[in-house]
Formats: sequence, structure tokens, C-alpha cells
Amino acid sequence: MGSGIAQCTALSGFEVVVRSRSQSTADALVAGIEKTLQKQVEKEKITGEVAGTALSRITATSDFSVLSDCDLVLESVVEDIHTKKHLFLELDRICADHTIIATNTSTLPVIEMAMETGRPDKVCGIHFFNPATVMKLVEVVRPITASEDTIESAKEFATACDKIPVEVRDQAGFVVNALLFPYLNNAVRMLEQGIASMEDIDTSMKEGCGFPMGPFTLLDLVGLDTSLAILDALYEEYRDPNYAAVPLLRRMVTAERLGRKSGRGFYNYHSEK
Ligand code: 3HC
Repeated sequence: MGSGIAQCTALSGFEVVVRSRSQSTADALVAGIEKTLQKQVEKEKITGEVAGTALSRITATSDFSVLSDCDLVLESVVEDIHTKKHLFLELDRICADHTIIATNTSTLPVIEMAMETGRPDKVCGIHFFNPATVMKLVEVVRPITASEDTIESAKEFATACDKIPVEVRDQAGFVVNALLFPYLNNAVRMLEQGIASMEDIDTSMKEGCGFPMGPFTLLDLVGLDTSLAILDALYEEYRDPNYAAVPLLRRMVTAERLGRKSGRGFYNYHSEK
């Protein structure tokens, strides 16, 4: 997600710092962006010059202090509230006073991150969708502490990245995940109950409802660990049984079948040898 966000931001003319815990991971992220941009050039979607300029706007680092120069910092780390709160504490210490610190969280309470900082008025959610380079929507999430200026700047940023912003209150799942994840969870339940095969469930939702991909393909794209974290956060907030993760999903995560990123989720992505 982070690299997708960095790519569309750089293509939109922003100077971007990709900060990761290690230099090698940061470099690998930028190498991935270079590869995707190259594909776009081959498909004649963009020129080599545009790709080169976008790439030259991206700095890869493991050094936290480089973020002190940024006007907007958007975190996209693991969906774990303790990790995020710790990060916000650090960011608040490093970032300039005017900097907006935003989270790409899918479901976690933005207010908890905001309250770790001395600038809760300058904290909001800026939530991109998978794949970030393609999906147009950005949810701008307003915790009760955010100022009007912060929300307006976040919307302007999303629009400048050629995205379509919508404003949402700081409630678990915002709009999309609150509606999407009961559907995905129920698809797993349907599979677990043996009502249909996953291929046939995927085909049904594609061909019967015109969805671009079926629920299992989408779960694999989002990542099963991320999906489980989202459902757990939704259940924590609403205590609605629709959000209680189906046992099969939890077991898939325990078995490290995380989707495309681990080479296996509901489908197998390892190339045949
Ligand atoms: N990563 C990056 N780019 C991708 C991609 C991926 N995994 N898959 C496809 N693309 C790009 C292709 O390169 C292509 O770009 P181009 O037009 O510039 O060449 C474009 O997407 C279209 O790809 P294809 O023609 O190969 O494939 P499709 O027409 O099947 O579209 C799709 C692929 C856009 C991913 C489409 O299947 C889709 O819209 N799927 C639904 C995705 C969705 O629902 N996302 C939301 C998930 S929920 C979420 O993100 C919330 C978070 O909090 C978890």
C-alpha cells in the first residue's frame, strides 16, 4: 500500500520520502515502484520522461529525521494500534509544527493516534484503497479533534493525487470497510459451510453482480492478516456478529496463508515448477 501511495503521489508532482525501518526495505519499495512505472511506459500509458521524473522525486530512507522536512506524513504500517500510537508519538517529536500527520488505517480509531501527539488538530485519516495506484477513492477521516484546515488540506492533497475524496467520521471501517467486510466474511462462512466452492462463489459475484473480482480474489489482494485485523477492529467497536471473523479466516492467517503477498491465500500464487 505504501509504495502504491508513494507512486501516485510522486506522479502527481509531490516530493516524496519513503521511510522504512531498514534501508534495504525502503530501497526495495522504490525498486518496485520503478518496475511498475516501467510497465506503464511499456504500455505507453506514460512517457519514459514522466516515469523518470516521478522516480527522481522519491527518496528512500530508514532515517526518521528526514521526515522533519515534510508538510504531510502519511503512515501505512501494520494495522496494530500499539505500533501506530508509538509511531505517532515519534512523528510528533520529529515533524515540524505545521506538519499534518495522517494515518492510512482501515479501521483503527484515528483519535487514539491523534491523542498521542501534541497536535491532535493536525491529525486525520487519509485512507487509500488497494491497488492504490488504480482505485480512485480516498476516505478522509475526521476525528473529533481535527481542524477544518486539516480536513480541507487532506482533501486537497487527495484531489491533487487525482483521487476522489469523501469525508467520513472516525468510526471503525469508515464507509467502505464497514460495508465490504461483512460481505467478505460471509463469503468465507459460505465456503466453510460447503455451500459452494470458492471458485464458484467468486464467479457468482463477478458474473451475477458485475463485481470486478470475487470475494476470495479480493481477500487475497487485501491480505488475509489485514482482513482479519479489520474484522477484529470492527467487532471490537460494534460487537455486531456480522463482524465476528469466521474461524477459517483466522486459521488461514495462523497457517501464514496471507494471500498474494505470501504466495498463498485462498488461491495459490506460487508459479508452477
Ligand atoms: N497492483 C497494482 N496495479 C494493479 C494491480 C495490482 N495488484 N492489479 C491490477 N493493476 C492495474 C493494472 O496494471 C492496470 O493498470 P493500467 O490500466 O494502468 O495498465 C489496471 O490495474 C487494470 O488492471 P487489469 O486490466 O489487469 O485488471 P482488471 O481490469 O481486472 O482490474 C482491478 C484490476 C483494478 C484490481 C480490479 O479487479 C478491481 O477494481 N478490483 C477490486 C479492487 C477493490 O475492491 N479494492 C478495494 C479493496 S478494500 C481496500 O483496499 C481497503 C483496505 O483498507 C483494505
